[in-house]
Amino acid sequence: MNIGIDQISFYTSQYFLDLRTLAEARGVDPDKYIVGIGQSKMGIPPPDEDVVTMAASAAFPLKEKGDLDGVETLLFATESGIDQSKAAGLFVHNLLGLPERCRVVELKQACYSATAALRMAMGLVAMRPKSKVLIIASDIARYELESPGESTQGCGAVAFTISANPRLMKIDPEAGFYADDVMDFWRPNYLSEALVDGKFSTLVYIKALKASWKQYAEESGRSLEDFSRFCYHIPFTRMAAKAHQKLARGISKEDLDAVIGESLLYSRDAGNCYSASLYVGLTSLLDHAEDLSGQRIGLYSYGSGCVGEFFSGVVQSGYRDALLAETHQKLLTDRTELTFQQYEDIYHYGIPTDGGTHDFPQYRTGPFRFAGIHEHKRIYETTAAQNSRADG
Ligand code: HMG
Repeated sequence: MNIGIDQISFYTSQYFLDLRTLAEARGVDPDKYIVGIGQSKMGIPPPDEDVVTMAASAAFPLKEKGDLDGVETLLFATESGIDQSKAAGLFVHNLLGLPERCRVVELKQACYSATAALRMAMGLVAMRPKSKVLIIASDIARYELESPGESTQGCGAVAFTISANPRLMKIDPEAGFYADDVMDFWRPNYLSEALVDGKFSTLVYIKALKASWKQYAEESGRSLEDFSRFCYHIPFTRMAAKAHQKLARGISKEDLDAVIGESLLYSRDAGNCYSASLYVGLTSLLDHAEDLSGQRIGLYSYGSGCVGEFFSGVVQSGYRDALLAETHQKLLTDRTELTFQQYEDIYHYGIPTDGGTHDFPQYRTGPFRFAGIHEHKRIYETTAAQNSRADG
């Protein structure tokens, strides 16, 4: 039985900061960000957008098409958790109107957790082939202002379903994986910005990639030539390029672009989406590439701290009929550009912690918004964006 990704949908905030604007404000040559880091824009969530609203907005088009029928489990992957006890997925479960008969749980291991969710989902579907699992990875990458990480911020969510006989991609059983207890990137519970040993983090990313690839290649007997494309975890697009150059030593710029270029397009404009980033890359690849039916894709998931996994999947014939490419492209082109002052104001907008009644200003969001906090309880609501879609 083939098990894998049946549907995939991407969402990011309606606001972005152009990295040229950031470069000017920080007195940095813009080419450092555009060429050296490989990023053009970063998605910035307004105060009434969080990992819950982004997750629900990513899954909403799947619900509208009836693709969430049969979902028995919702696995929510994030490292931007909003509560120490309650799974953020429960808010999403309510916003999407999923049935009571549904398991909901949150998973964490930095940017790796959506891949752990995928592996668990495959086991669940193998046991009950008529059921589906909804995985949503949703994150906000936030570093200190004026730190080296600032230009690699971003936000976004990817919702994907795992089922038998998937329409998009069958996942292969082989995998290489690797864990090590390292302090390359972390966020203590009392901080709202990640701490990172930037250069070290890039080295650990590569070390975990080499170990995972070696194991995968030994187990599967495959070599790099067996893949038509590769998708990497994308903290910034240049990192994915460097990663592939480590595996395919001496690869030309043209060949590198041919095997990873399409997967980098959305991330270049949305920024790091942490747990969602690999799957943003996969969405971007499927949305942009010429017909990939029957072709094998290599996938590398990395989460600091750290866990890495190299695995693969085969694109299914007819997959293009199931893509949401137009929705994704419209989302990115319709975003509102922030001035530098607006970016800093949003950055400093703190979530109140005094237990009072706080209603948040209304910005542009998708079909859901984070309306406020009342007595430490988060309040979510649907927006006109959802109603106009329903009317139209
Ligand atoms: P930095 O140290 O300020 O940058 O920050 P740099 O000086 O190394 O420059 C970056 C590149 O730009 C270099 O290229 C420069 O040469 C080039 P390289 O030498 O690497 O090939 N450059 C220029 N190019 C063209 N024109 C110019 C110019 N100037 C310089 N004028 C750093 C870089 C990655 C450290 C920083 O952005 C950072 O700390 N980012 C956050 C951490 C991160 O993203 N790590 C990635 C691996 S870990 C990971 O992926 C996990 C993660 O997603 C979290 C999770 O798992 O939860 C982060």
